[in-house]
Amino acid sequence: MARQVITFRVNGEERAVVTAPNRTLLNVLREELGLTGTKQGCDDGDCGACTVLVDGAPVLACIMLAAQCDGRDVTTIEGLARQGRLDRVQQAFWHEGGMQCGFCTPGMIMSSYALLQRNPHPTDEEIRQALSNNLCRCTGYTKIVAAVRRAATYDEFSPRSESS
Ligand code: FES
Ligand code: FES
Repeated sequence: MARQVITFRVNGEERAVVTAPNRTLLNVLREELGLTGTKQGCDDGDCGACTVLVDGAPVLACIMLAAQCDGRDVTTIEGLARQGRLDRVQQAFWHEGGMQCGFCTPGMIMSSYALLQRNPHPTDEEIRQALSNNLCRCTGYTKIVAAVRRAATYDEFSPRSESS
């Protein structure tokens, strides 16, 4: 199969990848760029484990072709922390015990991050709606909703030392 060059910005860095046109964004992120924080769950658009941001909006990387991202801006879970400091959503998940397993948590955080970018003070209903594509059948969403609510009260990068 013919290969093509995709040039895009990933976590603030210009990247160029030579890949087949039928490769998904998820495949390219994980296998070509080594960004394995984005998880492969169902690989069928159902679970939200692969959620990343394209031009700031959450997308399911398992059902988006990498070629569709040519010239665009992609953010993965690896792109949230800055200079050793967690992003406020990561920080709040940690403080509230909202971390779940390694498969669902990155996608939950990316969806929550996108929500707070477009709606800085969401209601619980809006939080649950924003997370409705991120599935977990293992536990509940109570701590996750509390974490997003808490993140809304933080500056973008909260100090790691906060303990309350
Ligand atoms: S892995 Fe993409 S939605 Fe499940
Ligand atoms: S899928 Fe991660 S804790 Fe349930």
